[in-house]
Amino acid sequence: MASADYDRMKEVKEFAESKIGVKGLSDSGITSIPRIFIHPPQTLSQLKSTSSSSFSSIHIPVIDLSNLDSPHHRPKIVDQIREATKTWGFFQVINHGVALSVLEETVNAVKSFHDQPHQVKAKHSVGEERRGVVYASNNDLYRSEAATWHDYLQVWMAPQPPEVERMPEICRREVIAWDTHAKKVAETLMELLSEGLGLEPGKFKELTFSDTRLFVGVCYPHCPQPDLTMGLASHTDPTVLTVLLQNHVPGLQVKHGDEWVEVKPVPGGLIINAGDFLQIVSNGEYNSIQHRVIANPCKEPRISIVMFFNLAKWKESDSYGPLPELLSPEKPAIYRNFTKQEYDDNFYSKGLDSKSFIDKIRI
Ligand code: OGA
Ligand code: NI
Repeated sequence: MASADYDRMKEVKEFAESKIGVKGLSDSGITSIPRIFIHPPQTLSQLKSTSSSSFSSIHIPVIDLSNLDSPHHRPKIVDQIREATKTWGFFQVINHGVALSVLEETVNAVKSFHDQPHQVKAKHSVGEERRGVVYASNNDLYRSEAATWHDYLQVWMAPQPPEVERMPEICRREVIAWDTHAKKVAETLMELLSEGLGLEPGKFKELTFSDTRLFVGVCYPHCPQPDLTMGLASHTDPTVLTVLLQNHVPGLQVKHGDEWVEVKPVPGGLIINAGDFLQIVSNGEYNSIQHRVIANPCKEPRISIVMFFNLAKWKESDSYGPLPELLSPEKPAIYRNFTKQEYDDNFYSKGLDSKSFIDKIRI
């Protein structure tokens, strides 16, 4: 919000330093939200136009991963995943091999973390953004135009494993277990995505695409004025791939053409999306799509567990770009190469809704 009429930075700082979190504000029973959370009219009008218009019956594709090892089924699954990642950038997978009880335990553990008194959670609010363990409200609180209605717990899982004793005890075991499960799912998907481009199934693994992992356990508490703010601003993920587990409270929306499409929670499903990095290395065959979360009007918190996968190192070069194997005179590179530094700086220097890195490097 244009802040001519009040000292926004001061109020942002007060909120951050109170360490009460969005959950604390929500639990305090307030009926109007602090003005640092109020979004500009142009963002809010976009929210309204979607919720009143046809919240169409279209959904992101749901892809069944059973029978993946059958030579009859696998090519079909590869096709479905390629098509979904091209046209939607998002899909849900079912029968991915992770037991329902594991999904539930993970969600419950993250919920229990956020349900603790803010004084307990505040112990984890001193970490660094780029490593270790951090609990905070918004990762771009000081950079964004308006704050959003969520808190999160972030743990860097790899390439450097976290110091276990610095992880919150209440969800430590579950976070570590989830890392293993999510990694396995992501590696399977990386194989299928690799095959979908006509590459060897092991190509993405060889390129270390799932070797940097960030766990984020997000809580979207009840919002008393959901029409004035957002749960998470519209953005694309600066990743190779993202694996997302959500509870039954809806809120995630994906841009599809000119429409915002709600991602319906599917019991046992995991949501997968391509990040900017995958769009670039695939030379635009796969798409990293804008998504956002609306502020949660329900009494119950919305919980999402997001695992971001990124590469750990690039072989034989420090510059990144479309994979040479995919390029030909008929299919020239549509993105220029860039350095890791450029990529990281872009993400960390701006708010979440900053203009996509992809637009900057498009040839
Ligand atoms: C993200 C994200 C969506 C969600 O953290 O990048 O898009 O549902 N999260 O929490
Ligand atoms: Ni995202």
